[in-house]
Amino acid sequence: MRRKLAAGNWKMNGTGRNLVEIETLARDHAESVVDLILCPPATLIERAARVAGPVLIGGQDCHAEASGAHTGDISALQLRDAGARAVILGHSERREAHEEDSAMVREKARAAHAENLTAIICVGETLAQREAQNTLDIIGAQLSLSVPDSATGHNTVIAYEPIWAIGTGKVPSTDQIGEVHDFIRSRLERRFGAGVGRSVRLLYGGSVKPDNAAQIFAVSNVDGALVGGASLRAADFSPIVAALEATA
Ligand code: 13P
Repeated sequence: MRRKLAAGNWKMNGTGRNLVEIETLARDHAESVVDLILCPPATLIERAARVAGPVLIGGQDCHAEASGAHTGDISALQLRDAGARAVILGHSERREAHEEDSAMVREKARAAHAENLTAIICVGETLAQREAQNTLDIIGAQLSLSVPDSATGHNTVIAYEPIWAIGTGKVPSTDQIGEVHDFIRSRLERRFGAGVGRSVRLLYGGSVKPDNAAQIFAVSNVDGALVGGASLRAADFSPIVAALEATA
């Protein structure tokens, strides 16, 4: 069985004074039956890794190359050196604001794998794409282009994040989430075979909160969540983790 996973994405939020949230989370879930990953901004990775206990720390992006003349970028090698064990790649905010396409995401994921980082690869449709009934085509294309051949259940996690659900309080119906997660599962099995295809964990992301988490975690092929706003405070993230633990 796949081990459940709760991941938090702090985005561009948090300074040293917020590290206490990670300490609290680590203390509250010291013996957790699920995996925990928290992705703070790069400035906090090294300090967070020191206080995170069983919570793995991740980055929010990496460059495809290990080093070089890339002002402002961070490599997978540097993330690993700072104490990260995972990295979010292809988040819609980066695809949009930094014009990252799926081919770039695939190269980044390859770099992450080479450094033994778990790549959390994000896919998701816009509202217009959903309304035009193109959701599965969009997800299928993003998936086949963004996921490298080096993917295994150990080094890769897929996060389905409908763009219209991120930070909006809008959540797809459980049927809509299930349809996309079942589709992603079948595509992974077709490409990688049943062994690898069934071992990759699939997270749902987009307005996951303490009051809707249990419902979402009951959906087939949902192995956990990638949480934005509600991961910033342990008081919000902890009940979401507890809801996931209850399913494990
Ligand atoms: P919210 O949980 O704030 O909607 O963000 C989701 C997200 O983008 C996580 O990567």
